[in-house]
Amino acid sequence: MSSSASVPALRGAPADPNALDPKVWPEGAHRDEAGRLVVGGVDAAALAARFGTPLYVVDEQVARSRAARTRAAFERAAASVGTSVTVYYAGKAFLSGAVVRWMTDEGLAIDVATGGEFAVALAAGAEPARIGFHGNNKSLSEIERAVAAGVGTIIIDSEVEVRRVADAASRAGRVQRVRLRVNSGVHASTHEFLATAHEDQKFGIALPDAARVVADIRSHDSLDFVGLHCHIGSQIFDAAGFAESAERLLSVHAELSAVAPVPELNLGGGFGIAYTEADEPAPIEEIADGIARAVARACERLGVPVPRLAFEPGRSIIGPAGVTLYTVGTVKPVPTDEGWRHYVSVDGGMSDNIRTAMYGAAYTARLASRVSDEPASLVRVVGKHCESGDVVVDHDWIPHDVAPGDLLAVAATGAYCWSLASNYNHVPRPPVVAVSGGVARVIVHGETEEDLLARDAGLSDHDDDAHGVTA
Ligand SMILES: Cc1ncc(COP(=O)(O)O)c(C=O)c1O
Repeated sequence: MSSSASVPALRGAPADPNALDPKVWPEGAHRDEAGRLVVGGVDAAALAARFGTPLYVVDEQVARSRAARTRAAFERAAASVGTSVTVYYAGKAFLSGAVVRWMTDEGLAIDVATGGEFAVALAAGAEPARIGFHGNNKSLSEIERAVAAGVGTIIIDSEVEVRRVADAASRAGRVQRVRLRVNSGVHASTHEFLATAHEDQKFGIALPDAARVVADIRSHDSLDFVGLHCHIGSQIFDAAGFAESAERLLSVHAELSAVAPVPELNLGGGFGIAYTEADEPAPIEEIADGIARAVARACERLGVPVPRLAFEPGRSIIGPAGVTLYTVGTVKPVPTDEGWRHYVSVDGGMSDNIRTAMYGAAYTARLASRVSDEPASLVRVVGKHCESGDVVVDHDWIPHDVAPGDLLAVAATGAYCWSLASNYNHVPRPPVVAVSGGVARVIVHGETEEDLLARDAGLSDHDDDAHGVTA
């Protein structure tokens, strides 16, 4: 994920503040005769009446078809350069039992970053051999559990982890397939990338150290080195950064191949999506072809066979499938340097979508319960938390008569919203509802205040010693 907060550039007023840009809203989302937003065949007012707000809504068919399209795009691109590919779904974007099943049904493998994500994937029936296990600080118990369960690959992130995984594998009597995460020095976001010699961040190891660490990996009988891994960033709109990174990785891959065959190369995830009409990500087919061609060119130059490829998209699969529904509570006109801005307060906020506060992410908001002929007003959608940075949508334009009680929908919230949700201010996390073919069902239950109180030992452990521990 990207890591630096910024302020989204001010967008101009749209021609129609009721319009649903198909590039931003889940495919097939539309308004019914009453002007209500309909997603997956279910109208927003019915969803809000049945499940309450805030509510995460995920269109199952959109998630599935994006998974299938991504797999097909990479399979075609890989075949065109004489190799094959595994597409992992990056569970950190949003993982639940239902989502694991959608992804595995569509032929994707699963990428997990913690023991918790691994547990969800296993419980949902993912084949352990089709799971990749990441993490810059995996605990010994996470490593042992993964090895014992027969995890497909462990992505080694530091030198110290080589021995930890090797020992766990030999104790379990297994040979564990591992990749090594390296920093290619390429950082990318949207349509720009920055190529540097060094990286000042916590993941992976420097590319010049790779040969030494791989030699260490290869010295362990309990480890099977399958290839290098790199993830250059998130919300990337074209193939250029991946191509540059692949070139850098493949020079080291070629050196390693001179010692023993290296069957795979994993280029991570990070494919971008449209959060607003200003975003123009290239089609995934174009990105897949661009990367495959760059890999093939580099392999030809270096005189090595084209390795099997692997990718780990999360956001580009699940992000556009999601919307969040909120109820408007207050509307407050506030004078600013640019004129009047309406602060529209909704019943959720940074506890269900931290991306705006954390990354300066831009989002699109629309009235969901009706349309209006009123002219558009510049609004900032804010939450109910005790924090002035509690902003859900930095700015957008919605009809001037937006009022308490209106339903508001925020688009493209399928990725990194529920998964980053918190209980700040003791606000219970909302449920996640899947919609498909006019039917809605809960796929993650929401929390209640009782749930939060039940976890408070000072309130719930009445008979126990809640005041201290005696040995
Ligand atoms: C190693 C790795 N792979 C894949 C991803 C998924 O990225 P995205 O959801 O942008 O596709 C991430 C995101 O942080 C990552 O760190």
